[in-house]
Amino acid sequence: MKRFVFLIFTALLICTFLVSCSGNQPAESNPETQVTTASSAPKEVNDVNDKETSEISTPTESDGSSILVAYFSATGTTEKLAEYAAEALGADIYEITPAEPYTDEDLAYYTNCRADREQADPSARPEISDSVEDMEKYDTVILGYPIWHGQAPKIIYTFLESYDFSGKTILPFCTSHSSGIGSSAENLHELAPKSIWLDGERFSADTSQNEIADWLDENEIGAASDVGRFDFENKTVLLNSGYEMPIMGLGTYSLSDEECYNSVTALLEAGGRLIDTAYMYGNEAAVGRAIRDSDVPREDIFVITKIYPGEQYKNPEKAVRDALDKLDIGYIDMMLLHHPGENDVNAYKTMEKFVEDGKIHSLGLSNFYVKELEEFLPQVDIMPALVQNEIHPYYQENDVIPYIQNLGIVVQGWYPFGGRGHTAELLGDPIISEIAENHGVTSAQVILRWNLQKGVVVIPGSSNPKHIRENLDLFGFELSEEEITQINALDRGEKHDWC
Ligand SMILES: Cc1cc2nc3c(=O)[nH]c(=O)nc-3n(C[C@H](O)[C@H](O)[C@H](O)COP(=O)(O)O)c2cc1C
Repeated sequence: MKRFVFLIFTALLICTFLVSCSGNQPAESNPETQVTTASSAPKEVNDVNDKETSEISTPTESDGSSILVAYFSATGTTEKLAEYAAEALGADIYEITPAEPYTDEDLAYYTNCRADREQADPSARPEISDSVEDMEKYDTVILGYPIWHGQAPKIIYTFLESYDFSGKTILPFCTSHSSGIGSSAENLHELAPKSIWLDGERFSADTSQNEIADWLDENEIGAASDVGRFDFENKTVLLNSGYEMPIMGLGTYSLSDEECYNSVTALLEAGGRLIDTAYMYGNEAAVGRAIRDSDVPREDIFVITKIYPGEQYKNPEKAVRDALDKLDIGYIDMMLLHHPGENDVNAYKTMEKFVEDGKIHSLGLSNFYVKELEEFLPQVDIMPALVQNEIHPYYQENDVIPYIQNLGIVVQGWYPFGGRGHTAELLGDPIISEIAENHGVTSAQVILRWNLQKGVVVIPGSSNPKHIRENLDLFGFELSEEEITQINALDRGEKHDWC
């Protein structure tokens, strides 16, 4: 999909306007707006964490078929509870079976038996006799094990090192004679660092099926995962970083300093709380000024900015500090790499350090597609929370969007109205116009709502306060499945920008 060779040749030519990557102007009128709140405190989700409740539909719904109960059990206790869990969820079950079975002698603990020796040896990785057929299809793994000397048996380590668990939710449980789960589950996190680890639980041998079902309910396993789901009531989405982000906002690409200041001010006054800027747009300072001058509390606002290939990727620490200085709003809610380029991994890793310091809350990528993500993700530690790509009815990314969402990453679209030179055609598209007419809204609103119903966050650009208000007013109507299908059928795979 992406064409790097093309990119390299064209980058020089178009770097004056490659600036890319927010959508542009909308159309007609429309009424009032709603208030969206961006949370400044993370909800304990990401690299290893918890979940919280919300409602609503879209991107990632799990049912039993996407859940795997995987367990190791030497004497049958953990096995029974794993079976309860699989039954309660209608999930697949997989026994982690040692290639060399444990004899009674091997399990006679405190006798320097085989199990004792393995637990004392950090490098022990007992071999597993077979493998999970299609680990990719699972988004949640319930992981059961007995406590051995306060920790998970080393075969669990073998298991976690055998697959890519990126983006999967892992819920651990253990059985024991009397010990709690202690640090046993936390010590597993580093073996699957890009998973969403939920807090584990210890169960005794006499735990009932109901108790297991209740525990799964409490963890909302079997229900849709919160991460990536759009909460249409609060108009936010929970990111894998634990922060909430508004699902619609303002793109500031091509807005001059003054236009940008006025547009951000208009957005904040209209109740919008998400602003997308970038080093390359040259307007970070204006965004910051408008935020500081507004009455809206900083923690209610969500600012995305990006660093750019070339000098900035070469010296990412300076790039991030410059962005912090220009914005001057204390911290950056989300920082993206503008697009793939030389030194991008190193630049991202530097941004990871700023996350540790709390100066950046969440990280993401822009203009990364399947191939780029496959190459990039194994090289970094923090799973991106957002990928921002060109998405509009003529370039729908229908293969890419689910791939990204299945990793627990939220998708955001730039150029929602097709981009410069294409807006009139897209907004005037007969199908979109007809749907708009039927709902008494504008074509722009239909396109934005179509994005939201596909689980794509929208950041249309505009310097027109009327359009800015209209672009936030997306919650008084809903597209039917048939209408969504009609718009999906408009896809032409027609990319309107180079990146
Ligand atoms: C090598 C070994 C070490 C153990 N260490 C502990 C321990 O530290 N604390 C504890 O409460 N139970 C300990 N146990 C008991 C098991 O955790 C307990 O019997 C467990 O429920 C067995 O699960 P299983 O039947 O699924 O293998 C140990 C058992 C073995 C074999």
